[in-house]
Amino acid sequence: MSYQAEYQRSIAQPEAFWREQAAHLPWFKAPERILEQDEQGTWRWFVDGELNTSYCALDYHVENGRAEQPAVIYDSPVTDTRTQLTYRQMRDQVAQFAGGLRRLGVEKGDRVVIYMPMVPEALIAIYACARLGAVHSVVFGGFAPHELAVRIDDAQPKVIVSASCGIEVNKVIPYKGLLDEAISLAHHQPEATVILQRPQQTCALISGRDHDWESVIQADPVDPVPVKATDPLYILYTSGTTGKPKGVVRDHGGHAVALKYSMKTVYNVEPGEVFLAASDVGWVVGHSYIVYAPLLAGCTTIVYEGKPVKTPDAGAFWRLIQDYKIAAFFTAPTAFRAVKKEDPEGKLLAQYDISSLKTLFLAGERLDPPTYHWLNELLPVPVIDHWWQTETGWAIAGNMMGLEPVAPKAGSATYPTPGFNVQILDGQGQPAEADEEGSVVIKLPMPPGCLVSIWGDHQRYHSSYMAAFPGYYLTGDGGKFDEDGYLFIMGRTDDVINVAGHRLSTGEMEEIVASHPGVAECAVIGIADELKGQLPVGLVITKDGWEGDPAELEAELAAMVRKEIGAIACYRQTLVVDRLPKTRSGKILRKLLRSIADGKEYQVPSTIDDPSSLDEIESVMKQQGLV
Ligand code: COA
Ligand code: AMP
Repeated sequence: MSYQAEYQRSIAQPEAFWREQAAHLPWFKAPERILEQDEQGTWRWFVDGELNTSYCALDYHVENGRAEQPAVIYDSPVTDTRTQLTYRQMRDQVAQFAGGLRRLGVEKGDRVVIYMPMVPEALIAIYACARLGAVHSVVFGGFAPHELAVRIDDAQPKVIVSASCGIEVNKVIPYKGLLDEAISLAHHQPEATVILQRPQQTCALISGRDHDWESVIQADPVDPVPVKATDPLYILYTSGTTGKPKGVVRDHGGHAVALKYSMKTVYNVEPGEVFLAASDVGWVVGHSYIVYAPLLAGCTTIVYEGKPVKTPDAGAFWRLIQDYKIAAFFTAPTAFRAVKKEDPEGKLLAQYDISSLKTLFLAGERLDPPTYHWLNELLPVPVIDHWWQTETGWAIAGNMMGLEPVAPKAGSATYPTPGFNVQILDGQGQPAEADEEGSVVIKLPMPPGCLVSIWGDHQRYHSSYMAAFPGYYLTGDGGKFDEDGYLFIMGRTDDVINVAGHRLSTGEMEEIVASHPGVAECAVIGIADELKGQLPVGLVITKDGWEGDPAELEAELAAMVRKEIGAIACYRQTLVVDRLPKTRSGKILRKLLRSIADGKEYQVPSTIDDPSSLDEIESVMKQQGLV
């Protein structure tokens, strides 16, 4: 079917369209009521359907000819390990681990926090939760104890699953120590933890609370528990504009239907093919395209515990494609910028046979034109940028490889995905003209698979996403359609930044920076960075009478942000300034600061209190080599 026909039908007849897609899944009770609004006005999909995601992704394939096909391949250059689990082995281990969790008291609806490195056991734990109807919340291993504690308090897990350690390039991260610290910081206390002991660094277990993975998985297997399509499958925390992360809630039914559909339509992958998303299970890309979608579609997924470079070199991705005959490869542009930095001419590619590769997909941040052109010239396959968010769980726009791909345009995410009615609105909420930038919104209802609530705060779901333009979901991104209908996503319109494909809140960093005893006021902004896309920089006004050393202040603030959020925040630079540009009502003009730092043209708003503050800031930025 052509893209246009499929897209138009998905928008004009969403119920008929998604009813057909839902029929591709093995439901326990097939849905009859496809799309409804609940009493709070939230759109819900497949309301009377019943299924189990663990059954759809594992048992179903074991029962239908894929029992001996590899389901999960584990490739870990940092531990020099390669293993694999067939669908049968995966199903059995998941069923037994689910039995172990049940023995620890976990039942349908209970929450389980998973704080693990990139090991197959992370997938086993995730699927075990799904099998029980328990709600998992995976926390990225790069987050510091404070961030983990915030998530523990919000999700209130009965059990936490973790590991003794994770392994970064040349360094061991003591996950168990970080977990213990997080539990001591949290108000909510889990009843039990399960710890995977890794030989690279084992850890002591606290008697009565901590359980060894090996003992927990020695349990009687349990069958998949039927759940409603609208029951929560997982919570995934993401950065909003405030210090409190948002627990994005995704339900079982819509998620399974959307991801299965995406494997063919967005990625053009067939059952039996190998899919690699080089991301982390702690991010949405990992949830959707390492853990769930490949197995829902009967493919083989790869858990890669390594980096694009230095494990051991910039040929790592090419080796993976060759060794596992990967058909579709998905990562963040920053990863290829790292490859390009180490191997500018892509010479290492010549050492590998990548003939299995059909398409390269990039997301997590905009695929910048220089990286796009570099990849396009280097590789014999289409290079596809596609745009999505934690909230949507799958691509909102892309070049649909399973329909009729069109000629790409550098810098554009191409066309909206079927199901997503993407529009651009101007500041007054009116449709923007072609080529006019505005707020990118999605007309409700959104397709299956998108967030259905914020955990514990449904009001915040409405106020954050639905209030700005009634009838539309606010993506938080700015962008435009060009004359040919190509969508260009130009960056966030709020205080969210993207550092090496990791979504972070400058508001949260500001709260930490402002808590330093020498700081009177501050703004943290994201500035352009060649490798990581953006890096945070703090602009700080010190308190009257403060006589400290700016270099020491900078080091202290960097250490504070690292301790509170984690190393991934990459907060290093602080500029001490006398004034910050503000409106007459006292609001700091952060967007203006970003434009100055990025050397972009800007208009001085009429509401500015003192325009001369801008010249001052620009000159400090120039002195520090920022501009
Ligand atoms: N656990 C613990 N620490 C972690 C971690 C994890 N899972 N992931 C990253 N960190 C640490 C790193 O070790 C580093 O610590 P350091 O400051 O002590 O050196 C810090 O966090 C910053 O990490 P990162 O921003 O990843 O920088 P890097 O220089 O190690 O690697 C890239 C740069 C581009 C190679 C890497 O960021 C990458 O592969 N990015 C892909 C991003 C991605 O997958 N995004 C998901 C969306 S698709
Ligand atoms: P996350 O929720 O971590 O996936 O981050 C989502 C945000 O990353 C989006 O709101 C965008 O700002 C940005 N993003 C992700 N993919 C793309 C893309 N392909 N093009 C432009 N921006 C992107």
